[in-house]
Amino acid sequence: MRLLITGAKGQLGREWLEFLKGSGHEVFGFGSSELNITDVESVQAIFKQVNPDLVINCAAYTNVDQAEDEPELAFKVNEIGVMNLSAACREFGAKLVHYSTDYVFSGSAGDKEIYPNGYPEEANPDPMNVYGKSKRAGELSIEQQSSDWLILRVSWLCGQHGNNFVKTMLRLGKEKPELNVVDDQLGSPTFCLDVVEKTMGLIEKEKIGYYHLSSEGAVTWFQLAEKIFEMSDDSPRLNPVPSTAFASKAKRPAYSYLNTHKLKSTGLQPVYWETGLEKLIHQITEK
Ligand SMILES: NC(=O)c1ccc[n+]([C@@H]2O[C@H](COP(=O)([O-])OP(=O)(O)OC[C@H]3O[C@@H](n4cnc5c(N)ncnc54)[C@H](OP(=O)(O)O)[C@@H]3O)[C@@H](O)[C@H]2O)c1
Repeated sequence: MRLLITGAKGQLGREWLEFLKGSGHEVFGFGSSELNITDVESVQAIFKQVNPDLVINCAAYTNVDQAEDEPELAFKVNEIGVMNLSAACREFGAKLVHYSTDYVFSGSAGDKEIYPNGYPEEANPDPMNVYGKSKRAGELSIEQQSSDWLILRVSWLCGQHGNNFVKTMLRLGKEKPELNVVDDQLGSPTFCLDVVEKTMGLIEKEKIGYYHLSSEGAVTWFQLAEKIFEMSDDSPRLNPVPSTAFASKAKRPAYSYLNTHKLKSTGLQPVYWETGLEKLIHQITEK
């Protein structure tokens, strides 16, 4: 298969490139400086060059707080850029695999009552911040453009590359004796390696449509931090604090738990969050 990976220098893009090494597939990865998905001509030129069977879109505007100040740019990348890819996929007959987010949901107390086992794919999106709204717009643009697509909603993404909560905690644990960690947001950490493996599974099973892809089990950031330090060499004192203890531009959903029943019904089992965390800490500390 000829695979085109966009956003190939980001956290998930790099995990994909590593995963596909030696796979026998012809893999073409492009960072934002080589393929800007908001530029139709650049998208067309790369599609002509690669003629992909499969496009894995790891490119996105991901700065949740900054998006509040530059909504045009967030929508340009997460809606228009995705629309460009989707249109090119239709033209070139390629399948599009796209990543979206738990932040398309409001995370309200009412939703938590309706969906105590996490948001299923058919739940009604109602994003509460600009990033979430731009990602939802991207989902809709794919739905309108083509038929051969997979949209995988992931949450609290953590991998060996780039910046994420696990790496930040490991660094801060070395620098500080005491850390305040938010304890009023519940979600499922999702590990890049598991995302890549499960995505490949869905592609091989020729699945299309929406799938929620996160680890098994839900925790707060504080509980996740506790487990990180149980598994690492450092043990700073951890204080549970409310989200309001941190000044941030964007509101974040209190309930970010995705239900993975649909994924499991295909025979694919997401990793349990503690197992995924252990693997990731091993990946990071072995480097
Ligand atoms: N990180 C999370 O916690 C999280 C949670 C839920 C969902 N997701 C979703 O998961 C996917 C992967 O996220 P990630 O953590 O790997 O993000 P990431 O590390 O921020 O990587 C995103 C990549 O997209 C590139 N990019 C930005 N604008 C672009 C453009 N116009 N054209 C081409 N590339 C562009 C960035 O390049 P530059 O750095 O050069 O701009 C960056 O390398 C995204 O769809 C994200 O929305 C992430």
